[in-house]
Amino acid sequence: MHITIKGNMMESNGKNIIITSALPYANGEIHLGHIVSTYLPADIFARFCRSNNKNVVFTCATDDFGTPILLQSEKEKITPEKYIDFWNKRDLADFTNLGISFDFFHNTSSTENIKLTQYFFQKILENNLIYKNEISQLYCEQDKKYLPDRYVLGTCPYCNEDDQYSDGCEKCGKAFIDREILKPRCAICNKTPKLKTSMHYFFKLSLLSSKLKTWLTNNSNLQNDVKNYVMKWIDDGLNDWDITRDISWGVPIPLEEAKNKVLYGWFDNHICYISSTLLFLENKNINGKEFWNNSIIYHFIGKDIVYHHYLFLSAMRLAINEEYKLPEFIPTRGHLMLQGEKFSKSRGWYIGLGEFLDEFPADYLRFYLARITPFNQSDVNFDWEDFAVKINNELVANVGNFIHRILSFIESNYDCTVPEPKEYDKEDHEFLNKIRNANENVTKHLEKNEIDKGLASILNFSDYCNQYFQKREPWKNEESKNTTLYLSINAVLSLSILLFPYIPFSIEKLLTNLNIERDKINWKTNVELFIKPGHEIKKPEILFKKIEKESIEKQKNKLGKKIK
Ligand code: 2FM
Ligand code: ZN
Repeated sequence: MHITIKGNMMESNGKNIIITSALPYANGEIHLGHIVSTYLPADIFARFCRSNNKNVVFTCATDDFGTPILLQSEKEKITPEKYIDFWNKRDLADFTNLGISFDFFHNTSSTENIKLTQYFFQKILENNLIYKNEISQLYCEQDKKYLPDRYVLGTCPYCNEDDQYSDGCEKCGKAFIDREILKPRCAICNKTPKLKTSMHYFFKLSLLSSKLKTWLTNNSNLQNDVKNYVMKWIDDGLNDWDITRDISWGVPIPLEEAKNKVLYGWFDNHICYISSTLLFLENKNINGKEFWNNSIIYHFIGKDIVYHHYLFLSAMRLAINEEYKLPEFIPTRGHLMLQGEKFSKSRGWYIGLGEFLDEFPADYLRFYLARITPFNQSDVNFDWEDFAVKINNELVANVGNFIHRILSFIESNYDCTVPEPKEYDKEDHEFLNKIRNANENVTKHLEKNEIDKGLASILNFSDYCNQYFQKREPWKNEESKNTTLYLSINAVLSLSILLFPYIPFSIEKLLTNLNIERDKINWKTNVELFIKPGHEIKKPEILFKKIEKESIEKQKNKLGKKIK
């Protein structure tokens, strides 16, 4: 795999790959929106890299701290520890059921993350990039609490959207501080809060503007459209960043004078990318820091957290002199729409992951989402009819049909034994070439993270395989049928290799049918016609089933009716 590293990054031999995907808040179930922008693209990429014999570390964690979680645990009258523990387990179970193959799933409230976050704080302080300032804070007299972030609702001072939390606007993507929000109201009791002074720590983000610009300019792996608007934010002037919260739930500030304060969740959460990767490696007796600094790093995110990843995360690594290096790639994707409308949990216009997987195989979701998700920030539309069309016409009628025809033909005509090929004619040679080169285009796309185009190219190959088989009519042509089947079963293996990152559960089953162990093959195996004459396959099973109209109607009818 060829990945060009540009800019003044530490040289890497390209063998070590670190992949992270944005950390879900330990505060509610994973839904399809998260999957589409972040977890599925990251997982497909991780599987692709592993198949190419890279040293992949793919980590994630729950994002445990912050006011919404504290607020919710208070409402449920349980400790925040108990609350996040529930969601950590639940999220991991959901991800596992979808085949998201994290090497390690941790949490931001872990000892390792708290320690590393405090280390970052100390270092940044030593480097004179943190200062103290007495500020007025919104305070609720009724609840006797400072009201940071989500404890306050109001109107966005930049785009005027109402019902925004006081730490940033979901509509225009700007991050801001609570005093800036217009028409503030307390999220607990709805009263208008008062201002009260409190000592806070600030990160000198503004001072890092030019370093950030240099990093952005030199890193040509980052998506240009994203880079452009991040540059514009810098040019418009960055505000220093309040990294303190007057609550009890967070990473304690490691200073005696700040005993009752904690660090803001966005100060510590992305550090968990590092602390989890290091812990995973160190448990294997590998020097985590050395690995980190000699890897190509990918942070997969959705477009709503661009500000935090391109600015906060990068600035904090710059602020400690790149002791942990910055990412080469921050693959950024759009939101998910449902039947052409915005996802909304409160209106019941959403699909939870668990609920989806109760009805359909995980691979159907992976296939469909990969098929429609481009590598850019455009929103993606989940449409139930289109879902059925793509599964029925492409996965079942194209891929599934070819695989099943070949396996059952070998079962019934050759008693499950792959035949010895005879002379190749022109069409066989062409097919052989196609098999050998099938991974070329897919590789090009997957290296660039274009999972949709990679899949489209696999489907073209599968289409070609069907045409070849149909044309050769092995049920009639005694002379050429051995060659046809020998080449075709190797084409089935090629398809399995290429489709494995997309639909791993089905391919695991198929490999069992083919009687091939997964660790015997890799991304390039198709070049050598791995399945030899005399190899015995097992009795084939049907891999994919058509989706019936009624089950789609049932899903559509549920929409809008599951309001909590
Ligand atoms: O926006 C969110 O859902 C955050 N929990 C993402 C955190 S990603 C990080 F850790 F950088
Ligand atoms: Zn209040």
